[in-house]
Amino acid sequence: MPRCRMTRLSLLALGLGGCAWDAPMTTVVARSDFARDILHVYGIITWAAAIIALVVGIALLWILARYRDRPGAPPPAQTRGHTALEIAWTIAPALVLLVIAVPTIQVIFRTQAAPGPTALEISVRGHQWWWEFRYPTLDVVTANELHVPLGRPIALKLDGPDVIHSFWVPQLGGKRDVVPGRMNQLTFTADSVGEYRGQCAEFCGVSHANMGMRVVVEAPDAFERWVAAQKATPAEPTGLAAEGKAIFARSACVGCHTIRGVSTGALGPDLTTFGSRRTLAAGLLPNTVDTVTAWLKDPPALKPGSKMPSLALTDAQARAVAAYLMSLK
Ligand code: CUA
Repeated sequence: MPRCRMTRLSLLALGLGGCAWDAPMTTVVARSDFARDILHVYGIITWAAAIIALVVGIALLWILARYRDRPGAPPPAQTRGHTALEIAWTIAPALVLLVIAVPTIQVIFRTQAAPGPTALEISVRGHQWWWEFRYPTLDVVTANELHVPLGRPIALKLDGPDVIHSFWVPQLGGKRDVVPGRMNQLTFTADSVGEYRGQCAEFCGVSHANMGMRVVVEAPDAFERWVAAQKATPAEPTGLAAEGKAIFARSACVGCHTIRGVSTGALGPDLTTFGSRRTLAAGLLPNTVDTVTAWLKDPPALKPGSKMPSLALTDAQARAVAAYLMSLK
């Protein structure tokens, strides 16, 4: 294949790579007030850029045609300085910047405003490499899966114990850094029921790309049911799951994980309602007995840099612990 054709094809492939129908992390389908505000500014900038590109393109083509070199033509007149033109091309960009700056600054102030008294406060902690969500007023703790009620302002308080992460759920709003020793805040009100994907957006180490999350926006009554289920004490396991519980209780797991009434470790995710979550290892794998078994056998093999070490469980032991964890819901 000729080289220029290959270059053109790869450029086309690169361009089309930006288009997708299935794009759970799109920024142009806003599902909260915060995301709509950003989309509004994005729209203004896009239209301004498109109009400027059109005007400049047409002017360029006209000038190229009108003043092209012709055989026998004399050298063009030489000019030095043109006060009116210079004032015009200083004022025009300043006006463009003003058109962009005013709504941008308005949105910055609006999205930084303190949350109202009805907001639901949730503490977000970024860990290498997973997300911890605590609802102080509801006494609920979860990991990597944030549930919020539709239509109620959500006030996230973000900080973390290790390195800088960045909380980003594109359909619900902009990025906000999660900085150790500093409490950042992010407020939004979701306006559509659904499940929204998010991702750590600040390079934070070897498994940065594997630091995903999900935000489940549900109707207020469904959210209330979720809260009640999170607070309920899981039923005492039986059979294989009971064996798993015994293995869990005498293993190193208890040093890092909390399961209400069983263990109090605080280094890893709280597992009290582990079985209710849809994914495992910060959105990396679907939550099933098979994937949890594989995870328990060797976490770093599935997620590079995982702080959870291999526990040297046998296949049967790992499957029993997986059955126990999946029973917690
Ligand atoms: Cu956490 Cu990137």
